[in-house]
Amino acid sequence: MNFSIQLAPKHQTGLLLANPVMTAAGTFGYGTEYSQIFDIEKLGAIVCKGTTLEPRDGNPQPRLAETASGLLNSIGLQNIGVNAVIKQKAPLWASWRVPVIVNIAGETVSDYAQLANQLDGVAGISAIEVNISCPNIKAGGAEFGANPKSAAEVTASVKAATSLPILVKLTSNNSNMVKVAMAVAEAGADAITLINTLKGMAIDITKRRPRLGNITGGLSGPAIKPVALYMVYEVAGAVELPIIGCGGIATGSDAIEFIMAGASAVQVGTANFTNPRAPLDVLEGIEQFMKKEGINNLADLIGAAQRQSD
Ligand SMILES: Cc1cc2nc3c(=O)[nH]c(=O)nc-3n(C[C@H](O)[C@H](O)[C@H](O)COP(=O)(O)O)c2cc1C
Repeated sequence: MNFSIQLAPKHQTGLLLANPVMTAAGTFGYGTEYSQIFDIEKLGAIVCKGTTLEPRDGNPQPRLAETASGLLNSIGLQNIGVNAVIKQKAPLWASWRVPVIVNIAGETVSDYAQLANQLDGVAGISAIEVNISCPNIKAGGAEFGANPKSAAEVTASVKAATSLPILVKLTSNNSNMVKVAMAVAEAGADAITLINTLKGMAIDITKRRPRLGNITGGLSGPAIKPVALYMVYEVAGAVELPIIGCGGIATGSDAIEFIMAGASAVQVGTANFTNPRAPLDVLEGIEQFMKKEGINNLADLIGAAQRQSD
């Protein structure tokens, strides 16, 4: 069976994945944490924790709240900063047989460009995922992904600052999603990741206070899967770039739904917290489905639900 997927077909060197299962930023640390639990080199790619120019402590505690159907988080991009990623993490990644993608976030367009510039040419880093959809930081983040002009500006500045393939991660908290996706495609994105968390909140009724220290947070997990699937379907129908589906994926069937909606690859996020082997289970589930259906080439399934004649 052929699982390989080219995620950056328009890019000079491309971004070839052995299979379509990736991890979602912020839910898989730097990959090292999970390498004790399973053979992470079996994955298609690893996306590391969101990285900023300077180290960040993140938002006030509590930063996680479970709800009936999903997880609310307000981590606020706690991370070690780009210099530590380059010095401490990348040398290890360079010895892995799985591509590592660094997720970046900034407060200004020039923050993004500077991050991309610093990561350019670093051994062990195969691509950059540009997060313009984080609901948990005060400046920047989701604001950039909310309108086509600023989303394109960030994309173009990252593109100009690095020769690495770039994935742009969009939010679903606005009704402009297709226009934003078209703008980032035009500005040089190699692929688009959909979606980040959706803004939400929960209240502790005995304390009469929000359950998160930051008041609001980002909702992830099973609750957001239908929204994410719809966004992938809409954007895949409008943009000629590979789409990476993300949102509530925990099984092979979840992943197949995203692939049929038009995704070329998928990311597993919140499911890692309840089942650390979730990405491998997703991969095995895809394999089983393909065997059962007699499909040899994963690419044949991409967008199957988009084509009415099938
Ligand atoms: C605890 C936590 C931390 C996250 N941190 C990041 C991050 O640093 N950068 C980013 O782009 N997305 C981040 N996300 C969003 C996920 O990568 C993913 O887009 C989202 O959770 C939806 O997928 P899921 O339902 O499979 O978790 C985070 C999500 C969670 C739950």
